[in-house]
Amino acid sequence: MIRKIGLFTSGGDAPGMNSAIRAIVRYGKHMGIEIVGIKRGYSGLIEGDMSDMDLSSVGDIIHRGGTVIKTARSEEFKTEAGFKKALEIIKIFDLDALVAIGGDGTYKGLQKLSEKGIPVIGIPGTIDNDFGYTDVTIGFDTAVNTVVDAISNLRDTSVSHGRINIVEVMGRHCGDIALHAGLAGGAENVVIPEIYYDTDDICRKIIEGRNRGKIHSLIIVAEGVGKPYDLAEEIKEKTGYDTRVSILGYLQRGGSPSAFDRILAARLGARAIDLLVGGNYGRAVGIKNSQVIDVPIKNVFEYEKTTNEDFYRLIGILSR
Ligand code: F6P
Repeated sequence: MIRKIGLFTSGGDAPGMNSAIRAIVRYGKHMGIEIVGIKRGYSGLIEGDMSDMDLSSVGDIIHRGGTVIKTARSEEFKTEAGFKKALEIIKIFDLDALVAIGGDGTYKGLQKLSEKGIPVIGIPGTIDNDFGYTDVTIGFDTAVNTVVDAISNLRDTSVSHGRINIVEVMGRHCGDIALHAGLAGGAENVVIPEIYYDTDDICRKIIEGRNRGKIHSLIIVAEGVGKPYDLAEEIKEKTGYDTRVSILGYLQRGGSPSAFDRILAARLGARAIDLLVGGNYGRAVGIKNSQVIDVPIKNVFEYEKTTNEDFYRLIGILSR
């Protein structure tokens, strides 16, 4: 019987985490469950840094980026001593279950806790969209929209000067932000770690475009590929075009969550509570074909993360 849940956000923050916190607290209360907010992810769990969350504690946060209960990447939790401390705190604070919002590092921690018999639920919250078991993660849609806005601004200056603008976007080892923003923003080329690329092909496209009177180009590079300045230099040498590099960085992690991310957060938060109330523990919630799903958390990394190659093909055709 679940009476008291410890809730935390962990790893890199993502827009929509607050919307999910609100959903979990309010839906949890609706189901008669006590919610305790654990501060700074696994760091706060180890230190017992937590406080009760009531209905009003999540007022006016649905539209805010970041996470009101803060986040961290805890190195201590990965140690045996840190993990032991976390288990003791769970006991001392009488937590019947844990709900965590985060990415792969967060899930690895939940897997370890689940193996020790702690009832856990994972909610995917990361701008990277790098899980295979869910079509989408909380924060991804907002980050893509942020990148698309940035590309629109860059397009203005790119056209005015007749330059090649190279934009590096986040995503660690996953090219999804680059791919989706590239299609939505009309980029000429997208360079991602999942798909082989040849700089000569990129240059050929630029020269072909120039022969038709197109004097600018936008190239999105996923951070997992790296070296955007080297790419810029090579393109300049091979095409004679002036190049400029913009690294969007952390601005992609902030901002008000999109309607899509808020709705996703509400649906996944409610499912997390429903699972615990129904006695279904050790699950990760997600979305497949627009339906809320849940899978065993121990298997989340066994689902292959696929790349939408059709998006890649369309970008090539539509941006000529
Ligand atoms: O996982 C989200 C993310 O923003 C990645 O895209 C990026 O590689 C990483 O976090 C940066 O991590 P940190 O904020 O710890 O430097």
